[in-house]
Amino acid sequence: MAENRETWGTKLGLILAMAGNAIGLGNFWRFPYQAAKNGGGAFMLPYFAALLVLGIPLMYVEWMQGRYGGKYGHGTVGCMTYLQAKEKLGHSSAAIIGALAGMLVFSVTTLVNAYYTQIIGWTLGYSYLSLTGGYMDASKSTGEIFVNYIQNPVMSITFWVIALALLAFALSRGVQKGIEAWAKVMMLLLYVLGFILIIRALTLGSPINPDWSPIKGLDYLWTPKWNELNWQSALAAAGQIFFTLSLGMGIIQNYASYLKPDEDIVLSATTTVFLNEFAEVILGGTIAIPIAYTFLGPEGIAAGVGLSFIALPNVFRMMAGGQFFGALWFLVLFFAGFTSAIAMYNYLIAMLEEDLNIPRKVGAILVFGFYILVGLPSALEPILTKTSELVFLTELDNWVGSYFLVVVGLIEALVVGWLFGEKNALEEMNRGSYWKVSSGFFNLMIKFVTPLSIVILLIFSTKSYIQNGYFKWVPSFVEKMPELVPWVQGARVLLLAILVIGFAEAYYTIQRKYGSAQTQKGAKA
Ligand code: ALA
Repeated sequence: MAENRETWGTKLGLILAMAGNAIGLGNFWRFPYQAAKNGGGAFMLPYFAALLVLGIPLMYVEWMQGRYGGKYGHGTVGCMTYLQAKEKLGHSSAAIIGALAGMLVFSVTTLVNAYYTQIIGWTLGYSYLSLTGGYMDASKSTGEIFVNYIQNPVMSITFWVIALALLAFALSRGVQKGIEAWAKVMMLLLYVLGFILIIRALTLGSPINPDWSPIKGLDYLWTPKWNELNWQSALAAAGQIFFTLSLGMGIIQNYASYLKPDEDIVLSATTTVFLNEFAEVILGGTIAIPIAYTFLGPEGIAAGVGLSFIALPNVFRMMAGGQFFGALWFLVLFFAGFTSAIAMYNYLIAMLEEDLNIPRKVGAILVFGFYILVGLPSALEPILTKTSELVFLTELDNWVGSYFLVVVGLIEALVVGWLFGEKNALEEMNRGSYWKVSSGFFNLMIKFVTPLSIVILLIFSTKSYIQNGYFKWVPSFVEKMPELVPWVQGARVLLLAILVIGFAEAYYTIQRKYGSAQTQKGAKA
């Protein structure tokens, strides 16, 4: 049992830290463009279905795995998965499954956070540009300004390094004084600024075109479009649920590992889901889409990835008080992103602390250097190639940020549902919980509906990956730009290296901590 493991200081701190973990760029940057791109009302139907079938069950599973792992001093997924799989499997098979889960989660916390922190850097840089009027000059398009920004090392690299340094500083202070204290302030500011922006968004009227208004923007999102339902929007919706709730990333388990042994899981996990969904569909959905619709019309919200950094600055140019509201918008993105990146960063610190006995303060500095190293290629790509394609980031995001999360979700559901088993899992989920997970829910959802839905999701995602040419040596998104192919191949080499390191680290740790005990047990038997 882990005697000296740090725990969360207060219930409020825990809930805000967990909400901060989940609420991120996914809510304010990714959700509006995913919803807009996939037909608004046609996206929301599979979105809510995925929330019920995947989001809520996996959230309970991950909180439970985390608190269970924390009891044994583990904040990382490899050992947690091993211990739970070991209930039904022998040491070697459980160690392989644990190492596979540990490997995939290591790739997420390393590679996703390497580019995620860069986007946080952009939000900081854009807050600065908003305040200083940096994108207000109407002689240049906002697209051009964005490209100049990512191609300018002084801007893009400086703000990225500032964001990473702030994360390192916060994390060197520990769970309570670092993560919890910063989450309390940032989450509060996020909700306050979010509400100010909602009020501004809903009171814009129709300044450009009588047919364009904030309410029309909301209609677009909230009018169910049964006839437009398709697999592509269902896949996008399920992917969004994983990303926004931080599922399959190992970071919910990591935070839950700092719970006290009898601390509530079910109600707290449900509250986290609620706070995240509120921030996503209410705040995220009521700011960006209505504002963009009011000024740019239906075409404007179809801006895709560029909605936050290209379409909205266009709007802030036209809007009364645009510089101020622009700064608020980018600060909301910054607070959201920061409190999620801190969770991925902490995962790596926990790994160093628990597996290699490296003190937290030293770990925070080492991880800082590591993120600079693995993140540098995506930061340098636009600067060196003078393009804005970001293919290095795209390749990594396609695999790690979209696909691996779902694979981890499947491993979790199968390990908990079928190997750890009903009795252990329910005892662990319900101990100290105000609401209880029922045996019916466990047997229906966690054993069958959730893993089967993930399998279907993986089959269709794989098919769509093949159709989109992602498995090809030269993937289709880079076919017409041969000069960028080395960047895609470079991303693949990095990914492979991280997977090998991740597997070796998790496997070695499981062997070191449990291998010899197993041998002794075997010898006794
Ligand atoms: N859940 C985090 C987000 O939404 C990772 O950005």
